[in-house]
Amino acid sequence: MSLGSLTARDRVGLQDFVLLEAYTSESAFLENLRKRFHENLIYTYIGTLLVSVNPYKELGIYTKKQMDIYMGVNLFELPPHIYALADNVYRTMLTESNNHFILISGESGAGKTEASKKILQFYAVSCPSTKLMDNVRDRLLLSNPVLEAFGNAKTLKNDNSSRFGKYMDIQFDHVGGAVGGHILSYLLEKSRVVHQNHGERNFHIFYQLVEGGEEDLLRWLGLQRNCQQYSYLVQGECAKVSSINDKTDWKTVRKALTVIEFSESNVESLFAIIASVLHLGNVKFIADSRGYATLNSSPEIHWLSKLLGIPTQVIQVGLTHRKIAARSEEVLSPFTIDHAVYARDALAKAIYGRTFTWLVNMLNESLANKDSSRKTVIGLLDIYGFEVFNVNSFEQFCINYCNEKLQQLFIQLTLKSEQEEYEMEGIEWEPVPYFNNKIICDLVEEKFKGIIAVLDEECLRPGEATDMTFLEKLEEKMAGHPHFITHKLADQKTRKTLERGDFRLLHYAGEVTYCVDHVLTIFHLQVMRQSKNAIVQLCFPTTEPDSKKRPETVATQFKSSLVGLTEILMSKEPWYVRCIKPNEGKQPGSFDDVLVRHQVKYLGLMEHLRVRRAGFAYRRRYQIFLQRYKPLCPDTWPNWKGTAAEGVQCLVKHLGFKPDEYKMGRTKIFIRHPRTLFATEDAFEVCKHELATRIQAKYKGYRVKGHYMRQREAATTIETCWRGLKARRERQKRAWAVKVIKKFIKGFMTRNQPVSVDNSEYLDYVRQNYLTRLKESLPKTVLDQNTWLTPPPIMKEASEMLRKLYTRYMVRKYIQGMTTERKAQLQIKGLTSSLFKGRKENYPHSVSRPFVDTRIKINVQTKVISFHAFPQYSVPVVKYDRNGFRPRFRQLIYTGTAAYLVEEAKIKQRVQFNQLKGVSVSNLSDNFFILHIQSEDIKQKGDLVLQCDHIFEALTKLCLVANKENCINVVQGSIKFDIQPGREGFVDFKSGQETMIYRAKNGHLMVV
Ligand SMILES: Nc1ncnc2c1ncn2[C@@H]1O[C@H](COP(=O)(O)OP(=O)(O)O)[C@@H](O)[C@H]1O
Ligand SMILES: [Mg+2]
Repeated sequence: MSLGSLTARDRVGLQDFVLLEAYTSESAFLENLRKRFHENLIYTYIGTLLVSVNPYKELGIYTKKQMDIYMGVNLFELPPHIYALADNVYRTMLTESNNHFILISGESGAGKTEASKKILQFYAVSCPSTKLMDNVRDRLLLSNPVLEAFGNAKTLKNDNSSRFGKYMDIQFDHVGGAVGGHILSYLLEKSRVVHQNHGERNFHIFYQLVEGGEEDLLRWLGLQRNCQQYSYLVQGECAKVSSINDKTDWKTVRKALTVIEFSESNVESLFAIIASVLHLGNVKFIADSRGYATLNSSPEIHWLSKLLGIPTQVIQVGLTHRKIAARSEEVLSPFTIDHAVYARDALAKAIYGRTFTWLVNMLNESLANKDSSRKTVIGLLDIYGFEVFNVNSFEQFCINYCNEKLQQLFIQLTLKSEQEEYEMEGIEWEPVPYFNNKIICDLVEEKFKGIIAVLDEECLRPGEATDMTFLEKLEEKMAGHPHFITHKLADQKTRKTLERGDFRLLHYAGEVTYCVDHVLTIFHLQVMRQSKNAIVQLCFPTTEPDSKKRPETVATQFKSSLVGLTEILMSKEPWYVRCIKPNEGKQPGSFDDVLVRHQVKYLGLMEHLRVRRAGFAYRRRYQIFLQRYKPLCPDTWPNWKGTAAEGVQCLVKHLGFKPDEYKMGRTKIFIRHPRTLFATEDAFEVCKHELATRIQAKYKGYRVKGHYMRQREAATTIETCWRGLKARRERQKRAWAVKVIKKFIKGFMTRNQPVSVDNSEYLDYVRQNYLTRLKESLPKTVLDQNTWLTPPPIMKEASEMLRKLYTRYMVRKYIQGMTTERKAQLQIKGLTSSLFKGRKENYPHSVSRPFVDTRIKINVQTKVISFHAFPQYSVPVVKYDRNGFRPRFRQLIYTGTAAYLVEEAKIKQRVQFNQLKGVSVSNLSDNFFILHIQSEDIKQKGDLVLQCDHIFEALTKLCLVANKENCINVVQGSIKFDIQPGREGFVDFKSGQETMIYRAKNGHLMVV
């Protein structure tokens, strides 16, 4: 039961029949199976047994992904699947290091072979692999198509029905790698070689060879590409089937044979045999005059002889006569046609049957594991199920006998293990009523009394043995057995359903009527012993016990092989897959109640369920039970401190289980009714959600908290680092600052000493500092003489030089920015300065007044110009008479050669520059000047006493025009001048509050 999926149980029925409340009801069982089948859920458990219903369609549940899902997962944790079972077997084998087998049973067409293939494929994918193992794995996988080609055929029930029983061992090394394999085959249905019922075919390989064989091969084998030509292939009248592609299957088989390392010669011999069987089937007999059989098919004999390497003569005789030992001689006795045909078919069957055995041996050689270290194995038993036909021959008898044996084994193993479990757990064993089929097994196999014993006796006793004598013998021995009926032994009613030559067995799975025709077989070995075909030589060895000795009959051989199989299985742990066929028509989605009910019955599923449920539906180890349900009880959640058993006891008490509802074993708890478990499970389901939410919340909180803590830690770390860094920087800075300051102070203290290490930096600093400051505070104009930063002592010299440089620079800049007129003007002003600066008191007032070329109206000038040379300067003046010192307004005009005193354009006086002796001015702030004129001539007027508001301009111009720069005298006190030659006058100058000009009493002009 898949606990994890129990919630879904209402929708798709129960995943485990053990939980079926009405576990004794076949209808309830069927109902669950049907419900799931219609939901495409073909697998259901009964405990660890897997019930599989053939879906007859692809379900897409055998993918690699599915395999991965089921790998390493507990059987009950996922929905039932063949992979889950396979995986569980595998893991149990690995952990317990013991051997296991999986018994796959079911009716023909129920899906047994498919199931075994799925298991094999699962192992091929899930096992660890190495190159060597890959090799083994490929061979294991490829042995299947070969076996199927030779051992499978289309039947009415299944287009690919296995016509032999197969037990396959897969061997694993201690780490679980597949390292080898072994196949045992049982009871190939040889009769199929010579006879097929309507709608059935011979073994696939015949059709594959004829349809797919290469031209060359067919020519060499003497075959035609037409199945209709061969009487062994057409009896079922369906050589061609849409579901089978013989051509592609042929290719697969050929490839598989190569991989499995069949030599070319072996392959040739093998197909020679297959071909010879077909030729043999075409051999015809006609009656000669005495009614004995003679051959009528020379080409077939020719090919038989060629392919088997037996002389034609030998074949001819062998097919039409039998040898009878008469005293010391051997006598040939001819066959009737019937006998000849029977003998021919018997030969064909024998050849095919033995070749099949040889093939299996070859496969085994190829799969054999050469390494002798200890292996564990998983056996796969894919054995034919019960078969009931209209006519059931000896082969069906064997098949059904085999099923009886397996049923017996099943009963023993399940009951035994169940009983052992109860014993081990110390729980009272409550016997389950079930049908034990031992009585039927005994009927068949008991020594001296069983059917096989009787058959042996009949075959081997001297004298003519026929089918009827055999039947009589049986009737004699078995009379009164509840499971054996013949026509003679039956009552009135049943007798009608029986032929005279039939006997009927009441198998555990139902009644089967067998026909005793041809139960006794005849061998002829001697012909085949002469064969040159390598395989035939191996199959019919000359050392084989001769018919003279007591050979084992087929039935005995089969019986002993079954005993062998039983022994093999008994030594291993059993697992079961029960295959069920849902309908007879191979239809997907159709569920035939009657048919399924019948299979459920004879597969013993109800019995198995009853046994599993014997008393307790559910059992689980304490640990597992506690682990799952501990959240349901506060004492056990989240952890139980004591033993698991005590925990479960506590849990169960809390849940309120009634004492008769459960039992405590040694290691397991046993729960009687499924409903108890369901209630627990439902409670758990509810609780689970709460828990999940709580856990989720806790976990989320935990995650977020963790995240927050980490962030906080990170922030602190970053902060610490940053602070450290900052502190270190600060410290460095301070240390540096201390050093700098110290040095600064030292530098300051030693600043006046010669340059040394101590003060060089300080001095540099002082210099730089001074220069920077100086840069900011340079004088803005040339005239600004005061703003010059006081230099530190060491910079005195440099400062002086800089000051000069800068002044020159400013001057230069000033000059460059000057107009020519202004330059000229300034030059004149310069001249003025050199003449008067510091000498005449009112000079500073004149500096700011610009000089001009004339101060008189143009027209006055022009008049003068018209008479004389070009006037270069003119200015109004006041002329004081030499005698009376009366002031008169005149204009003073300079030309290139002379100065004129003009009144209203009339020249009053002309002074030639060369006659000009000098000019005198006072040192005071008056505007008087006296022109001293040279005069030898008496008539000449004396010196001129003039007053001019523009005295400095007029005098400077005079110097320039007259080119007499030294002519000006600055005088203190009085100026003496000539009134006339020989007669002198004086002008006195005095400082005073008010400007006054007057004739003083001494006759001098007084200027205050
Ligand atoms: N699990 C399955 N899924 C799909 N089809 C299946 C499955 N099992 C069987 N079949 C179909 O049923 C047919 C018969 O199955 P097979 O295994 O040969 O039967 P058995 O061996 O029991 O006689 C297969 O050829 C296949 O078409
Ligand atoms: Mg099969």
